[in-house]
Amino acid sequence: MMRLVVLTGAGMSAESGIATFRGSDGLWENHRITDVASPEGWAKNPHLVLDFYNQRRKRILEVAPNRGHEILAELEEHFDVQIITQNIDNLHERAGSKNVMHLHGEITKARSTSDSSIVIDINGSELNWGDNCPIGSQLRPHIVWFGEEVPMIQPAAELCATADIFLIVGTSLQVYPAAGLIHSTPSGIPQYIVDPNTPAGISGQLQVIAKGASAGLEVVKEKLLRLL
Ligand code: APR
Repeated sequence: MMRLVVLTGAGMSAESGIATFRGSDGLWENHRITDVASPEGWAKNPHLVLDFYNQRRKRILEVAPNRGHEILAELEEHFDVQIITQNIDNLHERAGSKNVMHLHGEITKARSTSDSSIVIDINGSELNWGDNCPIGSQLRPHIVWFGEEVPMIQPAAELCATADIFLIVGTSLQVYPAAGLIHSTPSGIPQYIVDPNTPAGISGQLQVIAKGASAGLEVVKEKLLRLL
């Protein structure tokens, strides 16, 4: 089977009703990044940070995967689909995708503030001040914040290097190192991007489908099936 590696961002989940980060009414228009998504914000006011992610978790669990997520899951019938997502939601998994790598963490998990290898499933529960890990330290959201290492970037780059086809969906490609993953793909493979606002400065090798995730992935599916 040909390997299809897919990099997804917030636009993937927009049609499910989850706000993107940048752009009008995006999450970063309405919140200061440093307050809610940085180690400094956590040190200054962990209650605010916990509340921000508790609200986001609640919203994510209220919404459903969209047609775009479903198409990526359906493509597993024909391709070895490997998803690398910047999203912290679980909509790819809920749509049925089996291979999902989360670059920026997962909203349904918490991790110890004293030992980052202690990661706990909290599913839909709130995470509050005083919720401790088994060795007695405060739990924090299992999210990669600005200024933190991205532990999954190396496995993600290695996966990109094995791609036969590369597909990007719904990301402004403004945040590194995720945005640099395209440079880890083999040269000459088919590459597609689905995004209604194509990011500036992308390489000419990318085929642009300037549509939302659901409509755009219908187009991509047809193109991919023709490659078989
Ligand atoms: N379908 C597809 N793409 C869409 C849709 C849609 N319906 N609606 C918007 N988009 C596109 C936008 O045009 C934009 O290019 O989704 C992209 C969202 O970009 P960002 O808000 O910057 O989100 P993302 O690229 O995922 O952000 C990367 O930055 O804030 C941090 O850690 C956070 O993982 C996040 C990272």
